[in-house]
Amino acid sequence: MSFELKKPLFEKLGMKYPIIQGGMAWAGTGHLAGSVSEAGGLGIIGTGYWKADKVREEIHRAREVTDKPFGVNVMLLSRHIREVFDVIIEEGVKVVATGAGDPSPFIEELHSHDIFVIPVIPSVGLAKMMEKKGVDAVVAEGMESGGHIGSLTTMTLVPQVVDAVDIPVIAAGGIGDGRGVAAAFMLGASGVQMGTRFLASEESEVHDNFKNAVVKAKDIDTLITGEIMGNRARVLKTKMSKNFVKQERIEIQKPKPDDDAIEDLENGSLRRAVVDGDKTTGAFMAGQISGLITELKPVADILEDTWSQAEDLLN
Ligand SMILES: Cc1cc2nc3c(=O)[nH]c(=O)nc-3n(C[C@H](O)[C@H](O)[C@H](O)COP(=O)(O)O)c2cc1C
Repeated sequence: MSFELKKPLFEKLGMKYPIIQGGMAWAGTGHLAGSVSEAGGLGIIGTGYWKADKVREEIHRAREVTDKPFGVNVMLLSRHIREVFDVIIEEGVKVVATGAGDPSPFIEELHSHDIFVIPVIPSVGLAKMMEKKGVDAVVAEGMESGGHIGSLTTMTLVPQVVDAVDIPVIAAGGIGDGRGVAAAFMLGASGVQMGTRFLASEESEVHDNFKNAVVKAKDIDTLITGEIMGNRARVLKTKMSKNFVKQERIEIQKPKPDDDAIEDLENGSLRRAVVDGDKTTGAFMAGQISGLITELKPVADILEDTWSQAEDLLN
């Protein structure tokens, strides 16, 4: 390989490609994450609001398909977080990725168990703060992404974060093939993270309705929920998500729902999309790059095709 993986982080994790499958609540199952790691990327199990037992079960499912390292993405706002960390440590997981919330209180403990900590950040300020707290890398995620998002684009965020910190920066948001990977490297990223591309993989366990919706989606087929109520998330346009946005505008005068109601809404609607394929009440979280994805592929092909195209362009 002429474009060397110079970053020790990836070497330590035994990765063949500098490509991470981003943790996705409900959608990032042990089987998907294990398959990505087995094929040479880094798979990450998305745990969302899951209880510790379910997290352990999915870690075991990942181990059924690989003996390579994989990660677990934790939801720091979950009320089960302490038990989830206990399971991660007991099971010898190698990487903890964090989405919402501040991982600082746990970094020292995780490092004492040789676990890399890689938070997802939407801004330069948070990247610098995380570096100061001692994380091993950051994922700079643009608002093109599926799921919960910040407000900057990948194109603007990544180079600014690269200039601001000395730890490896992994680019996420709107990357679906080797052109996106090469562009991210040109912006200074050391690796990339993809979510939506892996939803439409053979090993993805999301409902067929979800996979088909990603494959069929065009460039303008996502929208952002939560612009008014908070918790902005990018989802595919469905009758439900369009109504949600309309409803948000109407309900702006009413008091904001409490945390339990938001957890029920988010956790429940994503589960209904991923597990049940429910087009009426499910939230099909997916990114703007859905329009580029036109077929289901095995994860090994996604990794190989993406990296070989990137390498050609970078060379
Ligand atoms: C269905 C879905 C669920 C997601 N859930 C999470 C999550 O629980 N935690 C998190 O940090 N990121 C989550 N993400 C973001 C991904 O990890 C990843 O950063 C993002 O998908 C990258 O952008 P892309 O979709 O354009 O590839 C989710 C994304 C999707 C599509």
